Amino acid sequence: MDNAILKRLREWFKKNAAELPWRLADLDAPRDAYAVWISETMLQQTQVSTVRDYFVRWMKRFPDIKALAAATEEEVFKYWQGLGYYSRARNILKTAKIICQTEMYGSRRQRLQDDLVARMPQTRKELEALPGIGAYTAGAILSLAYHQREAILDGNLVRIFSRLYALDFLPTDKIKRDGKSASEIYWNYAREIADSPKAYMHNEALMELGRTVCKIKNPDCEKCPLQGACKAFAEKCTANFPPAKKHIQKDWHGTVLVIESADHKILAVHGGQKFFKNQFTLPHFESPRHATAGLPAQAEAYIDADLVTSVQHVGNFKHNITVHKMDCDVLHICLKTKAPQHSAPELRWVKRSEASDFFANSFCLKSLALL
Ligand code: ADE
Repeated sequence: MDNAILKRLREWFKKNAAELPWRLADLDAPRDAYAVWISETMLQQTQVSTVRDYFVRWMKRFPDIKALAAATEEEVFKYWQGLGYYSRARNILKTAKIICQTEMYGSRRQRLQDDLVARMPQTRKELEALPGIGAYTAGAILSLAYHQREAILDGNLVRIFSRLYALDFLPTDKIKRDGKSASEIYWNYAREIADSPKAYMHNEALMELGRTVCKIKNPDCEKCPLQGACKAFAEKCTANFPPAKKHIQKDWHGTVLVIESADHKILAVHGGQKFFKNQFTLPHFESPRHATAGLPAQAEAYIDADLVTSVQHVGNFKHNITVHKMDCDVLHICLKTKAPQHSAPELRWVKRSEASDFFANSFCLKSLALL
């Protein structure tokens, strides 16, 4: 991309950057790597408007890696509750502990204060070796905090590059163009933008542009600083880019567990499931079409087999979501004990009488209708 366009992008960002708690008033100032790591991890699957308050609360309670590394998983989950994808929170804590316990990362006891000084690593290789840090988060930390010429690629940048260069494929598509994979082509564009002392600003300006101007639906091209370079705009076909994900329907056979306590509460789980990763759902797993009778081993991840009074196959239903043509057996598992008062944040016991309001997806509603 030529320098005049990049300059326009920077000017646009300086005028239009939203005030966000993880941004500094001076957009040229290097940021705290820990704060970049936390905010960008939260932002990976969650909208800016939701992340704002979570980030502020988090930073008050865990202002640096040392404070975080000393926390329990239970408390970390409390501060993450509502953001979903709890594996992100679990990985953040694991990584904080690794950084604080490893000399290699610059953690050391200062002689006078006996205080622990821990730094986020400053190379892509070290960052990507840590739990939960992938190419995107590593690039964000290196560019936004350490001002290195490192690239990032998130959904916003994919959409922008697809339109800018009229790319009719996604980075995940299994195609080759001139011997390069789809992912290489996108990352090469990302590196071109980042190959500048101002990589930190180009990266963040593009994310902001994707969020507020080059939107999925109805992009606001009149406000776009890249308009003059955009192929899709010139050809009046922004709506065709990026191309829709191709869905090839796959058969999936599985078992859904309706686990009911003696006080008629049903177990809901959040995360760790094949489907509905971002909401409470009934536990389910892939299984052969004619699964054997009795309590499946997978149920023991949630309940003690000794507490089970009955296991009944109550029926089967068909359900289609995105790429999957599902065929599901439903097992009703009754317990002799009441639901526990307290359970892990990813588990919830829901009154059977309220279950049809609680579960938001028709996969669960179809399962419950068979009871
Ligand atoms: N989305 C993810 N990270 C972002 C950032 N730093 N600025 C704007 N939008 C984002």
